[in-house]
Amino acid sequence: MRAVIVYESMYGNTHAIANAVAEGMRDKACDVTVLPVHRATAECGAHCDLLVVGGPTHVHTLPRPATRRSAVEAAAKPGSGLSLEPAAEGPGLREWLPALAQGDGAQAAAFDTRMEGPTLFTGQASHGIAQRLRRRGYRVIQPVQSFTVSKQNQLSAEQTERARTWGAALAFSAGPFRHDRPVADLIPVDAEQ
Ligand SMILES: Cc1cc2nc3c(=O)[nH]c(=O)nc-3n(C[C@H](O)[C@H](O)[C@H](O)COP(=O)(O)O)c2cc1C
Repeated sequence: MRAVIVYESMYGNTHAIANAVAEGMRDKACDVTVLPVHRATAECGAHCDLLVVGGPTHVHTLPRPATRRSAVEAAAKPGSGLSLEPAAEGPGLREWLPALAQGDGAQAAAFDTRMEGPTLFTGQASHGIAQRLRRRGYRVIQPVQSFTVSKQNQLSAEQTERARTWGAALAFSAGPFRHDRPVADLIPVDAEQ
């Protein structure tokens, strides 16, 4: 089975979780590509069996330009201890998801990272991600997942292990989607002559 994981990350937590989900999937013999959202194309879900999308929770939901600016400013403060991922200032998932090519029922899953605590207080970006995936014609095959960070913005080994386990569960529950089509369907018309 082939999977693509697309993530948005400013401080690296969501990136680390994306890598852990990929490891869990590879343990189950999946062929997985992990892409930061600035490198993901609108078609990147089109030739895989499962598209997994994850991002950080900002002000209860997906990052916006203004919340990304706040995050950049917070990282620039002396002693913040925060370092920014490449292209952290965006565009991010909020801009990429509406342009994603139609999934036509393809399989997808969504996750986020956020602070510890009840979702009533923290929000959860993964709900917004799953909603946007459905709007693009994807079938979300597992409940959304949150992986939490401490007040010091640290991911624990326990959360990373949970992500790995979730990746393995995704690999188990996702069936072939694109690749059970006849091979002829995958060959562009102009390549047939
Ligand atoms: C501007 C900003 C707003 C945030 N808002 C929330 C929030 O509403 N709820 C929450 O649980 N965490 C919030 N967080 C914490 C992030 O979700 C958390 O640190 C996340 O792991 C960051 O992921 P990243 O390292 O991949 O950027 C916020 C962080 C920033 C910088």
